[in-house]
Amino acid sequence: MERHIQILLNRISFASLTIGTMTLLFLFLQTPETCVPQGSIPKPHQKFPKSTCDFSHRAFTSIDKKNRRLWSTKDWLNKLHSFSSFFTDLQTLNHLHNHSKVLCVSAGAGHEVMALKQIGVGDVTGVELVDSPPLVSRADPHNLPFFDGVFDLGFSAHLDEALFRERFAAEMERTVRVGGVCVVAVEECGKEEVKEVAKLFRKSRFVSAKNVTLTGSKMTRIILRITTPP
Ligand SMILES: *[C@@H]1O[C@H](CO)[C@@H](O)[C@H](O)[C@H]1NC(C)=O
Ligand SMILES: *[C@@H]1O[C@H](CO)[C@@H](O)[C@H](O)[C@H]1NC(C)=O
Repeated sequence: MERHIQILLNRISFASLTIGTMTLLFLFLQTPETCVPQGSIPKPHQKFPKSTCDFSHRAFTSIDKKNRRLWSTKDWLNKLHSFSSFFTDLQTLNHLHNHSKVLCVSAGAGHEVMALKQIGVGDVTGVELVDSPPLVSRADPHNLPFFDGVFDLGFSAHLDEALFRERFAAEMERTVRVGGVCVVAVEECGKEEVKEVAKLFRKSRFVSAKNVTLTGSKMTRIILRITTPP
């Protein structure tokens, strides 16, 4: 009796093993139905991007579209115009030329960068904590990623809001060559405050201060010429 059962159990386990193996073999040889056979035309719902390149292309397209919308707004055009006249004034004063290498620090969305390019300045770099491609790259104003003295003119309309004004000014000075100028637009102020701002630029000589209207705000434009290398 016991031997009988033993034989039966052996047979059953052998049968299960065979069935299991056959099933696995069958599954292995089957092409899953969810796979798209090679060479077949994908149905509309199966259109996937061909590669990661497709994604980057899409990203750029959407930035382009966003920029085109932004750059055609009335607010953008007004600010652009304001910066253009601001820089045209610097051209008249002989501080800025078409061949000048210009750095705009804390350039926001890049109004000043676009304005400089539009009036004919070929080499303009804009930096801000948050980038706005293609006009503005990401960089910390307190730690600019540029060598000493590589620019002819450094500009910022945001020295007032800097976390560390001395450090901000020192970095602008460091990246502008001796003989070049730093131009800052600060909240409208009188002689004493102008002196305070000028003092931040330790390697420069004060050139001039003038009240101006920039992007609808009353501001004071202060120009300093670099006299001492870093
Ligand atoms: C500077 O560039 C602008 C725009 O391209 C041009 O109209 C102007 O004549 C140039 N100025 C000089 C001095 O070459
Ligand atoms: C700017 O205007 C204010 C108010 O009229 C005046 O107090 C200040 O001295 C002016 N600053 C400069 C640099 O001319």
